[in-house]
Amino acid sequence: MKEYQKITHTNTLQVIPWNDLDDKRKDLIQLATKAVDLAYAPYSNFRVGAAVVLENGQTFWANNQENICFPVGVCAERLLLGYTHANHPDLKPEILAIVAKKADNSGLATVTPCGLCRQSISEYEMKFKKPIEILMYRPDGTVLQAHGIDALLPFKFEDLNQ
Ligand code: THU
Repeated sequence: MKEYQKITHTNTLQVIPWNDLDDKRKDLIQLATKAVDLAYAPYSNFRVGAAVVLENGQTFWANNQENICFPVGVCAERLLLGYTHANHPDLKPEILAIVAKKADNSGLATVTPCGLCRQSISEYEMKFKKPIEILMYRPDGTVLQAHGIDALLPFKFEDLNQ
């Protein structure tokens, strides 16, 4: 077999125990948890909350907003980043926290951003030229931490289309 040159991408997520998080990150996850309960998800019943802290310390939250015409629905993360950037186009989003509840409401669910949301996070990283930390809360009380979208979206459009 012929050996070709390889381009390799290593993805790393850190698993952080809740008690090891600082107050800033705990508060952000708690804000996202509040947002879960206000989600509008009558079709999937899968409720997602997201919260972001900007570089000036201001926080915002949002949740998924579904539609009877399913593709019209918007994920929590994308709605949040768009809304935040619409209001504060010059402030860099620093940390994004995501929390979800199971569709049967039996407890929390692990959630990682969908492909569209990953691309949207990437756009704001590209604009501000800085990674956005992503925190994904897990039902076992640990938090998955990505130090930027690279860990979740390898070989993205922006990287290879230069
Ligand atoms: N959803 C989010 O809001 N964020 C994610 O990261 C994954 C999925 C929403 C979309 C839809 O309203 C519901 O969860 C089920 O897919």
